[in-house]
Amino acid sequence: MSELTLTEALKEHSRTTHDAVDNLVMSMEPFASHDNYRKFLQAQYEFHSTVNPIYHDTKLASQIEGLAELARLDRVKSDMKDLQVEPFGKDVETPTFTDAEAIGWLYCVEGSNVGAAILYKEAGKIDLSDEFGASHLAAHADGRMPHWRATKAKINALPLSDDDKQSAMKGADDAFAYFKRVIRKVYGTQA
Ligand code: HEM
Repeated sequence: MSELTLTEALKEHSRTTHDAVDNLVMSMEPFASHDNYRKFLQAQYEFHSTVNPIYHDTKLASQIEGLAELARLDRVKSDMKDLQVEPFGKDVETPTFTDAEAIGWLYCVEGSNVGAAILYKEAGKIDLSDEFGASHLAAHADGRMPHWRATKAKINALPLSDDDKQSAMKGADDAFAYFKRVIRKVYGTQA
């Protein structure tokens, strides 16, 4: 592959898709009201439930220090409890991924915490915070960017073949596409 690091290649590869997902999510006005935000939480619940096994994969956990603690499903659940939201529960998909594809999914979900800085600020406008309703969007204790840089370094240190890296690209594509489908489903839109 090129001389880019894996996460640089993933970023370049995903740029257009990322921006489409960003636009789609924002067009649903998830921070216009608590009800709109409840739907966003239902989408996050599905996404984080799907990726949760990656954080608890024994092999990956032996290669990425502190992996299990990065999982945000419990925070999403606690935010749902605060706002009395139940899982959407209908037409639930169970995407599957190979070990190498899972790296792309991990990139997608961990990177989403970078953009979450913007979402967290929006959530504040409807009185949500890390203490109530928006804990899964809060910054990591190390700071959002330092934490992301450290996570990227761990991903880039994984022993992956060129084929594995291609599979990781596919994994990232699949993860973004899946998130889009989940958003469309919970908001009931064709957009
Ligand atoms: C909903 C509105 C969203 C906004 C406003 C947003 C915004 C951003 C911003 C500003 C960045 C930093 C870009 C940079 O450092 O150059 C970013 C990074 C990222 N976002 Fe989003 N994002 C959103 C949603 C998402 C979602 C839903 C996902 C995944 C499902 C996602 C995945 C990522 C990834 C993987 C990165 C890291 C890019 C990299 O540095 O490699 N974002 N986002």
